[in-house]
Amino acid sequence: MSAAHRPVTTTINGVRHRRTVDARMLLVDFLRHELGASGTHVGCEHGVCGACTVLYDGLAVRSCLLFAPQADGHEIVTVEGLASPRGALHPLQEAFAAAHALQCGFCTPGILITLVAFLAETAEPDEAAVREALSGNLCRCTGYQHIVDAVLLAARRMAAEK
Ligand code: FES
Ligand code: FES
Repeated sequence: MSAAHRPVTTTINGVRHRRTVDARMLLVDFLRHELGASGTHVGCEHGVCGACTVLYDGLAVRSCLLFAPQADGHEIVTVEGLASPRGALHPLQEAFAAAHALQCGFCTPGILITLVAFLAETAEPDEAAVREALSGNLCRCTGYQHIVDAVLLAARRMAAEK
């Protein structure tokens, strides 16, 4: 292993992975190209669009702003990890389908991850809080209203299940 390479042991969607990577490899490229988790999208590559958002120890982070070695010892969840192991969609994914909250879908993985983290912290959000939570994720298709509707629907359904 050269000085330009680093060992990485990380858990992605509940599965432990061990690799040796270029020290400068971005986390998003590690997820997509080394591990095949291509549901995490690459948009701007400089922290603006939110398409690459993943959960990092439960926090929503931009995987284009982290290097792969920074995942060493940490737990990552990508959009592929939101459904249950038996295939049932996350309530937010179901609400996105019900409320027609996506068109091309490019922004959707990052928005789902961002809002899963948001709903974990905010059980009964109002519309203003949802719009604030969405403010770091760009969507070029929907105009956002259906996304907001989906998040409020998911929050109501999740609250009713408690
Ligand atoms: S690709 Fe990471 S924020 Fe745009
Ligand atoms: S659905 Fe197309 S960018 Fe959001």
